[in-house]
Amino acid sequence: METMSTTGTVTKSALSAVPLHPLLAERWSPRAFDTDHELSSPQLTSLLEAARWAPSAANTQPWRFSVAVRGTAEHAAVMEALAPGNQAWAHAASALVVVAAQTVAADGSPQPWAVYDTGQAVAHLSIQAEHEGLAVHQLGGFDRDRITMLLDEPGLAPQVVIAVGRRGAVEQLPEPFLSREVAHRDRLPVDDIVVPIQSRPLAAAS
Ligand SMILES: Cc1cc2nc3c(=O)[nH]c(=O)nc-3n(C[C@H](O)[C@H](O)[C@H](O)COP(=O)(O)O)c2cc1C
Repeated sequence: METMSTTGTVTKSALSAVPLHPLLAERWSPRAFDTDHELSSPQLTSLLEAARWAPSAANTQPWRFSVAVRGTAEHAAVMEALAPGNQAWAHAASALVVVAAQTVAADGSPQPWAVYDTGQAVAHLSIQAEHEGLAVHQLGGFDRDRITMLLDEPGLAPQVVIAVGRRGAVEQLPEPFLSREVAHRDRLPVDDIVVPIQSRPLAAAS
């Protein structure tokens, strides 16, 4: 259900068959961010700590984060690499964080779970952000070559840029972003995401 507060921020709680933890139910990806908000050092630390403590294959911890705080040269460089439809609103977030996966280890061996693990670390970070009164919007719409050049580290594959900040008033958004901001959140029914396991003998399956 979508509701708008007197300050113009929107809440869009997940409609679930059973109650979810409020940090999960209330998380959603905003485009309206508060330009008065600056990410504090403790807030940034808590986000990175949450990511750091995610599980990973053989504890390889292949996630890498590059933080660009609004108003810095690094932020301008990351902004330029975003797709125009993301630039239109992501500039208002307090920081843009480039998330990359170390898909190749220092010794040259592949790390096949790196992308999976990195997504999991971002999920941790997103929920910690909600706990801190912040919000995260992940962005896959960016120029990969450009971001790869900004990182300049071998074996690092950019995955997402995350806009982090405090939710802002929706009225600041131009269309079509304003309509998207107040739109209903939807998900596939649980039945559509559950796939039965076949119990036929292995010989019959081959
Ligand atoms: C990997 C990934 C890439 C995404 N890329 C974009 C993007 O480029 N632009 C955008 O506005 N939202 C982007 N999103 C946000 C999704 O559209 C959003 O998470 C989804 O619609 C569900 O909405 P919710 O997070 O509010 O529940 C991305 C999310 C993920 C996880």
